[in-house]
Amino acid sequence: MKTIVINKTSKQIETDIEKVANILKNGGTVAFPTETVYGLGANALDEEAVGKIFKAKGRPSDNPLIVHIADIQMLDQLAEEVTEKQKKIIEAFWPGPLTLILKKKKAVPDCVTGGLDTVAIRYPDHPLAQEIIRKATVPIAAPSANLSGKPSPTKGEHVVEDLKGRVDAIVLGEDCKIGIESTVLDTTGEIPMILRPGGVSREDLERVVGTVEIDRGLDAEGHVQPKSPGMKYTHYAPKAKVIVYNGNSHLMVEKIIYESNTLTKQGKKVGIMACDETQTAYEGCVKSLGSRQDMQGVASKLFHTLRDFDKEAVDIILAESFESKGLGVAVMNRLVKSAGYNMVNVKG
Ligand code: TXA
Ligand code: MG
Repeated sequence: MKTIVINKTSKQIETDIEKVANILKNGGTVAFPTETVYGLGANALDEEAVGKIFKAKGRPSDNPLIVHIADIQMLDQLAEEVTEKQKKIIEAFWPGPLTLILKKKKAVPDCVTGGLDTVAIRYPDHPLAQEIIRKATVPIAAPSANLSGKPSPTKGEHVVEDLKGRVDAIVLGEDCKIGIESTVLDTTGEIPMILRPGGVSREDLERVVGTVEIDRGLDAEGHVQPKSPGMKYTHYAPKAKVIVYNGNSHLMVEKIIYESNTLTKQGKKVGIMACDETQTAYEGCVKSLGSRQDMQGVASKLFHTLRDFDKEAVDIILAESFESKGLGVAVMNRLVKSAGYNMVNVKG
C-alpha cells in the first residue's frame, strides 16, 4: 500500500490537511500527532474503516478504541446523556490527555467498543489533530500509531518505522509533548475509576471530583484481570528483555551495576535506563530519562528511549524505577508492562 507522508512544515500544509481529511471521510487511515502519542485514525462510525486500523496495527479485535473529537457537539453522536459530574470533568480536563468512558449510543459500531455498551472518548489538546478531525467532520477512532505490542510512538519517525506501507497517510509533527497515553477514566459508576493511568494524574482528578479509584487489576502483576480490555496485553515492549529494579536509590544503583557486570561477562550487550541523578555511576550503554525532579520530562522520554535501545541492539535493558505518585504512576505502569512484570525488589 502506498503511504502519503506529509510534514507539518510543508509549504502546502493546508491543502495537505484537506487531503488527509478527505482520506478519513472516505474510509481511509491516517496517522497524526496528538499531545500524548501519535494516533492512527479512521472514521469511528464506519465499520470497514475501523477494521483497517486493526489490520494495520495487528491489534486484537477485543481491544476497543478511543474515539477522538474536536468539538463538544460531536459527543451527541457518540454518548448517551452526560451527567453533571461528567460535565465537570470535561470542563476541567478537555481538551487534554484524559479519555472518558461513557454509555455509548447505537451509532457507535461494536468493532470500536469491542462489543461493550460503553465508548471511550477523548478531545485531544493538539492544534493539528483538532484541525484534521474538524475538517474530516466525523469522530475519529484512533489507537496509538504503533504496531501492536511495541512502545507507543512519540516521534514521527516511530510511526514511519512501524506503519509506512500499512496506512494511507502519515502526518508528521513535532515530538509529542506528554509522551505517554491519556488517562482512561470510567465515569459510568458511582465513583470515577482509573482504568489506565496516563497524562492526567489521580491527584489532578481528585482536586476536581473528589475520590477517584484506581482499578485493582492494574497493580496485580497480571493476577487479577484489569477492567479495561487493552490493559491485559503485553505492551510497550522493545525487542530487548527489560528488568525493572525497585528500591532505595543507592541499593538499586549497586544492584544494577552488579547485574550489568555479570551479564557483560556472559557476553550480553546490556543497556541501562537511568536518570540524570544516577547516570554517571554506570558504564556502557547508559541512557537517562532526565531528572527525577521532572516526571513530565521522564514520561516524555520513556517510549523513545526504549526504542533507542533497540537501535543499539542491546540484549537486555536494566531499568531504574520511579516513585509511583503523580505522573510516576503512569510511567511505572508502562515500564513494568514493557518488562512483562519482571521486577526485582532490591532490599538492604
Ligand atoms: O493518548 C491516547 O489515549 C492515545 C492517543 C492516540 O489519543 N490513544 C491510545 O489508544 O492510547 P489505545 O488504543 O492505544 O488505547 C486505548 C485504551 C485501551 O487500553 C482500551 O482497552 C481502552 O482504552 N478502552 C477503549 N474503550 C474502552 C471501553 N469502552 N472500556 C474500557 N476501556 C476501553
Ligand atoms: Mg496503544
